Amino acid sequence: MTPKLIPPSTPRPANAFALHRRGVHHGFVEATTSDAERAADDTSDWRRGAPIRWPRILQGGIEVLRTEIESTRAMFDRLRNGAGWLDECDRRVDDDPDFRYSSSTVDRSDPREIERLFVDVVDENGTRIARDVTARLSWIADDESDLSLRVRFSFGYESLREWLANEDPRIALADEFAQRVFPECALLTHPTLLEELGRLHGAPVRLSERIVYSNAPGGGAVFHHDADPDQRGVVFGQLAGHTAWLALPRGALAELVAIADPRFDNSARAMAALDEIDEPLWRLLNMDPGFTQRVAEANALIVLAPGDVLVLPSPDRENTAWHSVFAVGEQPSLGLSFGIFDAY
Ligand SMILES: [Fe+2]
Repeated sequence: MTPKLIPPSTPRPANAFALHRRGVHHGFVEATTSDAERAADDTSDWRRGAPIRWPRILQGGIEVLRTEIESTRAMFDRLRNGAGWLDECDRRVDDDPDFRYSSSTVDRSDPREIERLFVDVVDENGTRIARDVTARLSWIADDESDLSLRVRFSFGYESLREWLANEDPRIALADEFAQRVFPECALLTHPTLLEELGRLHGAPVRLSERIVYSNAPGGGAVFHHDADPDQRGVVFGQLAGHTAWLALPRGALAELVAIADPRFDNSARAMAALDEIDEPLWRLLNMDPGFTQRVAEANALIVLAPGDVLVLPSPDRENTAWHSVFAVGEQPSLGLSFGIFDAY
């Protein structure tokens, strides 16, 4: 049973999360602890690009890494209040023998970017063996009312899309740098979880392009997919607080769009429109509580609690999980989101 979305016109029910994102109130969802169980056949969900929820599987690990998780939450609060990303990163890995700070940049063409750190990787003699491993701090939205932040670990230059190369040795180095800066990354790379993801994909996987998220109340991400070439999906782990998601296969979303938007008389047209979203479609997907209600009624509303994992498959471009995130609750949350790729 997926949770119900209570319409925004209803008085706020007791013990409910508001789905309120950047000025639009989409409704409420009950804030009870979920008793959701795993789906019986998640490999077919994977193949059709449907979201897969694994409730509570990180709970034990969260207990073990509680101090690290609290420290990261406090760090994001400081960053929201103007602390410097380099200073914060330095506090965490200043004495690391393998990674050395090299330089910082700010992409003036991207209003969301705060600072991108570049680090070198050195051997035991201090000789550089790799360069341009990056840790980029940015706002999630270009909107002052949304204080959600994220740090993405990668390498090279995004404009060259170097991170999509499957053989660059810096992939493993960027993954390792994420682990050094945020030890709680180990929760998502637990061997059992990797094995489960490999089972879904039908081949071993690696988890790269690691992102640490702190979604702030009233914020979140608009509808999108992560079907980049070679990326098989995304795995998200909720470490603290809650997030509400709308997540469903691309085809299912297109069907709802075709019903709601008179410009599309069938779901194939709506599907094509999702490739190049224009302003009216963007508003329908992200700013229309009536549409959000219909998506929720299609069993696409998911509330994640600490310990829950959500897999968003992209086995191919046609079958990919589209998703949208609402920060819920009174405090900023903490989550990890790693890209799923073929193992080397
Ligand atoms: Fe995403």
